[in-house]
Amino acid sequence: MIKNIGIIGAGTMGSGIAQVAATAGCKVSLFDVHEKALDKAKAALEKILNRLIEKGRIDADEKDRIEKNIHYVTKLEALADAQLTIEAIVENLEVKKKVFQELETHVSDTAIIASNTSSLSIASIAASLKRPERCIGIHFFNPAPLMKLVEVVPAVQTNTTTLELSVAEITRWKKVVAVAKDTPGFIVNRVARPFYGEALRIYEEGVANFATIDDAMKTQGGFRMGPFELMDFIGNDVNYVVTETVFHAFYEDPRYKPSFTQQRYSQAGYLGRKTGKGYYDYTNPKADNAFGNLKGAEVVMANTSEYHAEKIFERILVMLINEAADALFWNIASAQDIDNAMTKGVNYPKGLLAWADQKGISWCVHAMDRLYDEYREDRYRCSPLLRRMHQKKQTFY
Ligand code: NAI
Repeated sequence: MIKNIGIIGAGTMGSGIAQVAATAGCKVSLFDVHEKALDKAKAALEKILNRLIEKGRIDADEKDRIEKNIHYVTKLEALADAQLTIEAIVENLEVKKKVFQELETHVSDTAIIASNTSSLSIASIAASLKRPERCIGIHFFNPAPLMKLVEVVPAVQTNTTTLELSVAEITRWKKVVAVAKDTPGFIVNRVARPFYGEALRIYEEGVANFATIDDAMKTQGGFRMGPFELMDFIGNDVNYVVTETVFHAFYEDPRYKPSFTQQRYSQAGYLGRKTGKGYYDYTNPKADNAFGNLKGAEVVMANTSEYHAEKIFERILVMLINEAADALFWNIASAQDIDNAMTKGVNYPKGLLAWADQKGISWCVHAMDRLYDEYREDRYRCSPLLRRMHQKKQTFY
């Protein structure tokens, strides 16, 4: 067990990670440059713990124990004893590098230094350290105390001890760990791209409106939220930037191409729930939206039928399966970790590779080939792994 934990940044993620570590019995030093952020984190934790008491999940003693485990600090020196520090500050490489270089002057030579980054390469962060072999990505999902998944991402510089200690400790925090290669989007933010991208494309082709596509994914696939509801929930600005970052990071691979629709919605300030309007109007659910051809959240049945919904769902599903299979092909993670990542990180109803087995590998290959034949775009190329498995009549599990 690692006893002393340092957390840098007391915002959304840092405060959540501090709660998780303190609950697991660690002594946590939570550092932020802004005292107000620390006050806010402290007040938010008090509220969360009181709610957990009301629900009967913890008692007053447990609340007291968790609270006493967290020390709110405004000096980086206070993290000197930390055997593992997780950084969760602004997503800016230069700022992170500066903080890491200073941190390294305070902590011991063997202390692990981790980043919660979602989009920067761990290798570039590690390169700022004198001892890069102790650097690793430890990527939580929001909200950290509720989401089961943590992606652990060793950089090319990371040594085995750092990886093993990190995996053991995060597992002890009752999280499901998926070890991912240091590549853009790690597992979840890569494999999930078609859920949004293919849905947007189906809409842009005029096949169906937002509500119809959402409905297809929920009724046919058992997804808790449809792609447009989810993008509205995440924020179109945030989701668009992740897509654009992954697209450029993959040297403009057309599989990750961002959508003009989402770009325009972001530019228009239709960011989703947080602005009251996105693909849906949250202030006036019956409003007409000419661009989206959307009347409220009603499913437009005019050109839709059970078969139509099934086709929409299957097109998005096979693109997701193809992405998951390709992640395995490129050794981004193990099959089990890829499936765990999607069920525990973004609540998919089933692991995508298990889903591929269920649908049949030959079905997946034929569905991809049909899309490729129709569009003749690289976007729809079938993963070599799926094709190989089809030829050898193999399954993932
Ligand atoms: P946030 O904006 O809520 O919090 C950042 C905190 O860092 C603020 O309290 C700020 O005062 C503090 N800060 C900024 N510069 C600092 C410095 N030099 N030293 C110490 N503290 C500093 O940000 P959020 O959303 O918590 O994200 C933090 C990191 O986690 C980013 O790298 C982000 O990409 C990553 N992440 C965010 C997720 C999310 O859903 N918000 C999910 C997974 C990862």
